[in-house]
Amino acid sequence: KKTIDQVDVAGKKVLMRVDFNVPLDENQNISDDRRVRMALPSIKSVVDRGGQLILMSHLGRPEGKGFEAKYSLAPAAKALGEMLGKPVAMASDTVGDDAAAKVGALTDGGVVVLENLRFNSGEKKGCAEFAGKLAAMADIYCNDAFGTCHRSDASMVAVPEAMAGKPRVVGHLVAREIQYLTDAISNPGRPFVAILGGAKVSDKINVINNLLGICDAVLIGGAMAYTFSLAQGGKVGDSLVEKDKVELAKELIAKGGDKLHLPVDTHCGDDFGNIAGCNKKVVAAGEIPDGMEGLDIGPETAKLYAEIIKKAKTIVWNGPMGVFEKPPMDAGTKAVAQAIADGDSISIIGGGDSAAAVDQLGFVDQVSHVSTGGGASLAMLEGQRFAAVDLLDEA
Ligand code: 3PG
Repeated sequence: KKTIDQVDVAGKKVLMRVDFNVPLDENQNISDDRRVRMALPSIKSVVDRGGQLILMSHLGRPEGKGFEAKYSLAPAAKALGEMLGKPVAMASDTVGDDAAAKVGALTDGGVVVLENLRFNSGEKKGCAEFAGKLAAMADIYCNDAFGTCHRSDASMVAVPEAMAGKPRVVGHLVAREIQYLTDAISNPGRPFVAILGGAKVSDKINVINNLLGICDAVLIGGAMAYTFSLAQGGKVGDSLVEKDKVELAKELIAKGGDKLHLPVDTHCGDDFGNIAGCNKKVVAAGEIPDGMEGLDIGPETAKLYAEIIKKAKTIVWNGPMGVFEKPPMDAGTKAVAQAIADGDSISIIGGGDSAAAVDQLGFVDQVSHVSTGGGASLAMLEGQRFAAVDLLDEA
């Protein structure tokens, strides 16, 4: 795909879709600014070459009923201004009078952030009329919102469609994320190992299915493992399970054969609300007593998984192995992160919880790539194509 660096932006208006869907605390402070920081290369590419930059994003999931302060993009605009060391204008609406005025007042090298796209019902609906108003603002379209690439929202698809005939390009972040994941999936160094955790089998069915076809080993952890355990006739005590997914887990076990690795032991406890203080013990997988629930993979599983991980040449990891926020139930996730750090694989960590785990446990610099997209990176691991990227200009 053609990139933002390959178009002449001087004096032109560039409409860039970014994913500034950042977590905010109760005081509207950004608690993790990675998504803003990771968009900087594309933003600077436009600003430094004298382009006039219009940034648009969603934040959270407002329902399209107009402005709501808690979903405002103002904190992101402020953070961006600090990172760039110059003022960034913030429009109080998306396609209204204030946006028009602030876009009209842009000078070369200037930046304006439009207010949350999802304050408009047209965004989620992919509405052509809403898209047309956004499209009319600019000469060039750029998609640098990797975290949102699996969505067909207006700003992702209808806007670039409405801008047919004008340059429509990818930004650095989208190009880089797609490159990493595509290389891993289509031409992996082997052994190729997938590590999948998290709470629900239902979120990962298609991923497990697809990865069993292309990986050499798929390691399962997190609460998802208890549904598999149930499928094998194990006792899961009070563990989180999806009873309606047991049949499906059986099918995946049959399909996976010896590629699919399930925990051999489990660290369980009797009070999720008080993990530090409750009764805890390690039991064989499938032997969790009533009154207790699985909270992490056990030490034997961690050792077995670490051996497989250390030999890997390519690793994709999505979802923690246990309740990593609460020691000692961080041990399994830590052991996996440590094994990745000790090995010499290309390692790609999916966004969301696994990215937070790697960050919180201090392993960020020891993995090859931490994705900014949770759902988007999962969609890629499922083998999905993105309409939002396919329709952009070829290089
Ligand atoms: C994300 O956080 O995964 C992206 O920003 C997409 O958000 P969405 O799931 O609300 O579409």
